[in-house]
Amino acid sequence: MAQSVEGGAASFVPPLKGGAVALVTGSGRGLGRRIAEKLSAMGAAVAIHDIDELAPAQYGEARNLSDVAAAIAGERPAIGVTGDITDEAAVARMVGEVETALGPISILVNCAGGDIGAAGGKPNPNGALDVSMADMRAVMDRNFLGTVLMCRAVVPGMMTRQRGSVINFGSLNGQMGVSPEVVYACAKAAILHYTRCLALEARAHGVRVNAVSPGPAMSARFLATRTTDPRMQVEGPSLDRYATPDEIADAVAFLAGEQSRFVSGQVLRIDGGLTLFPG
Ligand SMILES: NC(=O)c1ccc[n+]([C@@H]2O[C@H](COP(=O)([O-])OP(=O)(O)OC[C@H]3O[C@@H](n4cnc5c(N)ncnc54)[C@H](O)[C@@H]3O)[C@@H](O)[C@H]2O)c1
Repeated sequence: MAQSVEGGAASFVPPLKGGAVALVTGSGRGLGRRIAEKLSAMGAAVAIHDIDELAPAQYGEARNLSDVAAAIAGERPAIGVTGDITDEAAVARMVGEVETALGPISILVNCAGGDIGAAGGKPNPNGALDVSMADMRAVMDRNFLGTVLMCRAVVPGMMTRQRGSVINFGSLNGQMGVSPEVVYACAKAAILHYTRCLALEARAHGVRVNAVSPGPAMSARFLATRTTDPRMQVEGPSLDRYATPDEIADAVAFLAGEQSRFVSGQVLRIDGGLTLFPG
């Protein structure tokens, strides 16, 4: 039975179906890394992915992608793959590398993304009327088109094999009007709707497509790039706080595994009840 050990306490993690192979984009750091660790503990062979070998070092989380893959490898293998999800040829190459090394992908987690503009940081200005063309394109590509390209490269094989679970990353910002981060919010809204459309195409083929929609979650980039409230960073019984990466990973693990086997086309908000609107 799979077990994971965090902070000294052993916690139960339900095992995945045999032979599971997971590709988690953007898993060199942040929420993606925690998801990859969890899926590995649940018995998947895991491909750790990032845009390049050094992305995990950007906020001090690891030296490089190879170190992250080596740390995650357990009973089943973990490999590192690099490439830009906005580049169709790179996506095809990465998927080929993963399937050659680990076998057919049965779990795809599209976690790579973020409100990261053309120059690398947050777009500035970042409103509905003033965001630059270059930033609009960068943010739409990095989030929406990157997710679409990954699905197009992986889901046809899943449909042929009649086995697969895809988990896309939205955001609360994609479910309500916000400012700033407007184009990011629109890109995430597009991901949520693409999730529903792809779920419709895939359902007769035994492939599930769902999305998570996190609220504020304590990844290293989140903490480094925003003004945060220290009182919201304390773990405790109150849900009036930021999510831990582990809390996001647990929801993804649920959607990846057998316990959600009849759930598809859905958006799961992970925000401790911060937003309480229907849908
Ligand atoms: N942290 C939060 O509060 C929060 C809230 C809602 C949604 N999200 C979403 O969760 C996901 C993970 O965010 P995080 O907070 O862990 O940030 P992060 O920056 O640590 O993780 C994002 C990862 O995606 C990679 N990436 C970005 N653009 C890429 C590209 N073009 N090609 C390949 N890889 C690329 C980055 O290098 C990084 O590894 C993102 O999609 C983000 O939008 C985060």
